[in-house]
Amino acid sequence: MLERLAFGEFPPKHHLALHAASGSLRYESCLTRQGFEGAYTIAYHEHRPQALEALGDPVFLPLDGSGAQADGAGPPPRLELSRRHYRTDYLAAAEGGAVPLLYNADLVVGCRQPTHDDTTYHLNAEADELWFVLSGRGTLRSALGDLDFADGDYVCVPKGVLYRLIVDGTEPQRYLSLEFYGGVGIPAAFRNPVGQLRMDAPYSHRDFRRTRFAGPQDEGLREVWVKAGPVRQRFVYGHSPLDVVGWDGSVYPWAFPIRNFQPRVSSVHLPPTWHGTFEAGGALICSFVPRPLDFHPDAVPCPYPHISVDMDELIFYVEGEFSSRLGVSRGSLTHHPRGVPHGPHPGRYEGSLGARRTEEVAVMLDCKARLLPTRSALAIEDGSYEGSFRG
Ligand SMILES: [Fe+2]
Repeated sequence: MLERLAFGEFPPKHHLALHAASGSLRYESCLTRQGFEGAYTIAYHEHRPQALEALGDPVFLPLDGSGAQADGAGPPPRLELSRRHYRTDYLAAAEGGAVPLLYNADLVVGCRQPTHDDTTYHLNAEADELWFVLSGRGTLRSALGDLDFADGDYVCVPKGVLYRLIVDGTEPQRYLSLEFYGGVGIPAAFRNPVGQLRMDAPYSHRDFRRTRFAGPQDEGLREVWVKAGPVRQRFVYGHSPLDVVGWDGSVYPWAFPIRNFQPRVSSVHLPPTWHGTFEAGGALICSFVPRPLDFHPDAVPCPYPHISVDMDELIFYVEGEFSSRLGVSRGSLTHHPRGVPHGPHPGRYEGSLGARRTEEVAVMLDCKARLLPTRSALAIEDGSYEGSFRG
C-alpha cells in the first residue's frame, strides 16, 4: 500500500449520503484488509455493487495439475531436493490467466502470456497479485482507474480489486506472476512513523505509478471471474462494474519499474536481503539491477556458495549476464531448495575477481515454505541444470 489517494466524487465524511446531480443516491463500497484494521479504500458506485449473481458451478483447477486435490487420486506432490531450472520461454502463450509453476501454502509462482485483451473482468479474492513484466506492455483497467505498464515493471493488483487486462501492441507478452495469500507490499522498515517512505529507503513515492481515474465507464462487459486459489466462480452483473464515480483510500493497483530500485553497494558482497524490494506473507522479493560491484581490493564480487536452510530460493532472470550462472537466459526461473548447497557455476567464482560492475537484472524470491513444482513446470525443465555445478 502506498499513500492515500482520492479521486472524483465523495462525501465530506465516511458513510454519509452522496447524491448525483439528478438526485439519485450513490452506493458506498468499502474494500478493507485485516478485517477492518488494515488499509482500505472506499468507492462510490452508480449502482449497488453487490448486485451480481453466480453463474454455473465453480471450476476447480488444482495447482499441480494432477487432479489430486479434486478427487484424492493422482501422484503425491514432488518434494524438491534438487536444484532446478525452468525455461518459461518454452511455455506456449495461453489465455485464462497465469500458468502455475511452483507453489506452497503462502504463494503461487506462475507465468502469464496473454495474446489478447481479457473479455471478462477478474477479481482475485484470496491473493494479492504481483506481476513482473518481462516483455510487452498494456493497461490494467480497474474500477479504480487505468494503470499503464511496460516491460521492466512490477505491477501490483491488490486482492479484491476487479480488473481487466488490455494488451498493447504486437510484442509477445510474458509476465512472471506471483500470488501472495498473505498480501504483498512495502517493508515496514522502509517507512517513517507517519507512513511516508523514509529518506534511506531504496525508492521514494515518486518511483511508483498509480491509477488514472477518469470516472465511470461502460465497456459493455458484465461478467467477472472471482478466483480463490484453485477455485473460480463466474458472476454476472446487471450493470457495468466500472461504475465508480469517486474513491478515497490506500488500496489500489500500482506499478514500479525495477530500474527505479536504488541498489546498495558495499566493500564486500552484500547478501540478497540488502536488495529486498517488497515483503509478502511467506516471502521476500528482491531486485537485482545494474550497479557497481564490491570495492574492497580483495573482494570476491561473485555470490559466495551457501546453504540456506530455512528458505527456498527462486531467481527469475531478466537481462544481462548473471555473474554466478551459466546456461540461464532471459525468462529462466531457477529453484534452489533449502538445505542443498548452491553457488556459482564452475569458473564463475574465480572469474569474478577484479570485476567492477554488473549489468544484471533479475527478480529473486526467498520463500519460507517449501515450493512444489506443477506439471507445467516439469514440462519446461532444463534437465541438465542439477548436473551443471560439477566442474
Ligand atoms: Fe542463493
